[in-house]
Amino acid sequence: MSSWTVMFGVLVIACCAISTSAWPETSDCSIRAKTEAGWVCGTRRVGDFGLLYASFRGVPYAKQPLGDLRFKELQPPEPWEGFLDTTNEGPICPQQDPLYKRLMQPSGVSEACIHANIHVPVADLPWYSHGRPARGLVPPHEAGFDDDILGISSGLPIVVFIHGGGFAFGSGDADVYGPEFLVSKRVIVITFNYRLNVFGFLSLNSTSVPGNNGLRDMVTLLRWVRRNARSFGGDPYDVTLAGQSAGASSAHLLSLSPAAEGLFKRVWLMSGVGLPIYFTTSPAFAQTAATAFLTAMNINSTDPEEIHQILVEAPLEKIMEANSIMLDMFGLYTFTPVVESSHPGVTTIIDEDPDVLVARGRGKQIPLVVGFTNVECESFRKRFDQINFISQVKANPLLVVSPHLLLTKPPTVLPSIANEIQDKYFNGTINLDNTVKLCTDQYFKYPAFRLASMRSKTGGAPMYLYQFSYDDVNSVLKEGWDISYTGAAHIEDMTYVLRTNSIVGNESLYATLENEGLMKDWMTMLFTNYVQTGNPNRNDDGFVGYWLPVNKHQIRYQDICKPGESYGLKLTDNSLDTKRFFDSIFDKVTG
Ligand SMILES: *[C@@H]1O[C@H](CO)[C@@H](O)[C@H](O)[C@H]1NC(C)=O
Ligand SMILES: *[C@@H]1O[C@H](CO)[C@@H](O)[C@H](O)[C@H]1NC(C)=O
Ligand SMILES: *[C@@H]1O[C@H](CO)[C@@H](O)[C@H](O)[C@H]1NC(C)=O
Ligand SMILES: *[C@@H]1O[C@H](CO)[C@@H](O)[C@H](O)[C@H]1NC(C)=O
Repeated sequence: MSSWTVMFGVLVIACCAISTSAWPETSDCSIRAKTEAGWVCGTRRVGDFGLLYASFRGVPYAKQPLGDLRFKELQPPEPWEGFLDTTNEGPICPQQDPLYKRLMQPSGVSEACIHANIHVPVADLPWYSHGRPARGLVPPHEAGFDDDILGISSGLPIVVFIHGGGFAFGSGDADVYGPEFLVSKRVIVITFNYRLNVFGFLSLNSTSVPGNNGLRDMVTLLRWVRRNARSFGGDPYDVTLAGQSAGASSAHLLSLSPAAEGLFKRVWLMSGVGLPIYFTTSPAFAQTAATAFLTAMNINSTDPEEIHQILVEAPLEKIMEANSIMLDMFGLYTFTPVVESSHPGVTTIIDEDPDVLVARGRGKQIPLVVGFTNVECESFRKRFDQINFISQVKANPLLVVSPHLLLTKPPTVLPSIANEIQDKYFNGTINLDNTVKLCTDQYFKYPAFRLASMRSKTGGAPMYLYQFSYDDVNSVLKEGWDISYTGAAHIEDMTYVLRTNSIVGNESLYATLENEGLMKDWMTMLFTNYVQTGNPNRNDDGFVGYWLPVNKHQIRYQDICKPGESYGLKLTDNSLDTKRFFDSIFDKVTG
């Protein structure tokens, strides 16, 4: 035994003798981290390429919003003694799921759903060891977390990924948001649950129920990440905020919010932006939705404080029944983010119409990647059928108009807008094919083009635009939902960056099907490059298909159609036509 080993051993013993109370016996748990509320004990799991990662699941990032706290802004987690078992994700938030189906495999449902899942390469976990701390001798909070004391660099970049689900359903679980691909590239992956539907987005335009609680939860999570990242080996100042669908819209909305300023460095949006188009931030809609909900709840009061009290005392089942009625009415969402009036003691998240904010340059200092898939709404085809969308449109032609226009344009212009859309997309006969096409263009492609165009005018940090069009016959969605189409639908780009464990399981399809593995490698590389450097391109910038940001002259996008084969494209004529058409509709009459 060398003298160094002896000295080191002595040092460890001396250290532990001093701080045993704050530092539980190391033999209790080797995959551990200390959060501000107490120690957590996770598990070692197998990532991509067989690399091990430490997984902390179901870590409370706030006090659970139970009882009187039901609609309140989240409060700090209550401290605990010893190790908290964080080997399982715990319950997802109360919801009805009209979309994910087989993709989601939750272990339970409860309002006590406010938790984060933190995934870290094992070797980068500061306190990983088989009996001694690997990268430092002093527990983070006692040490004040001085990098010099720990002898580590600034830590790994962090991806905070916001799950989708129309602000009404979904969860951050690894069934859909598996970290395996990214964590093996030395990126910390954090997913989480936030309050959904009634609990997250009902607005009574009052101090007690101001709306946007779900977004406020996201800000709480981001602040938690800022304070706790180092304990997990992460750099709290290098956070990429990403999301898919409503999660992407949320990420973009947070990039426009003073409440989230400085909490992340860059943003990646998959199939969703904050411009209100498939949803609306109109307070008038929030009011309509609230009224419909209160009617379904059989609540007659008009006093917000009295309503709040009734809702706090209402049984969960009754609230979820009313939510279900709303979901049938609106299809894929119930309540949405809203422009808030300011209320005393409430952190305002959205202070004005996001469209106006973007045009004014709010958030333009934050780099963006914005993506859409080429046949987005194939993912909703079954749902359109289920809610009889076609008969609904026949009965009420205005349903083809974006919810935001319905609420913000003068009612007199709406029929002519509906006519223009029907003429262009239906040619006399509405069917599921042209419904899917209209939905894809109006709710996903156009918003991405509109944002690109606005950003190119305001200038600021680079914005990279992509279309994901990889036609994968064995895609996770086609397998999981037993559907078929040509191209890539909503959610599919994400499945090559986050692993859909519910479908792929641990006998990875990706391992057996070479092409799928290559696409996963390609998308994961682009994503990881961006997270690590702010630029999605490989370092060898000479290669064919170099992805350029949009600029004043061109709203160009990268078409990601095959692994390793993307082409830097301008907008095609067809896309230009889509943009021109909806620009004329959205900007025609200022409501
Ligand atoms: C919301 O409340 C504020 C006062 O707190 C009021 O000025 C505003 O008009 C209300 N908005 C709606 C849509 O009722
Ligand atoms: C609400 O009003 C209706 C009729 O106006 C009445 O039948 C009902 O009992 C009232 N509900 C409650 C909870 O007060
Ligand atoms: C529209 O429908 C008519 C027949 O109803 C057909 O002749 C025409 O080609 C269609 N136009 C387009 C653009 O599909
Ligand atoms: C795969 O799943 C099986 C059954 O759920 C489990 O026993 C096994 O440990 C898993 N393997 C890996 C590598 O995670």
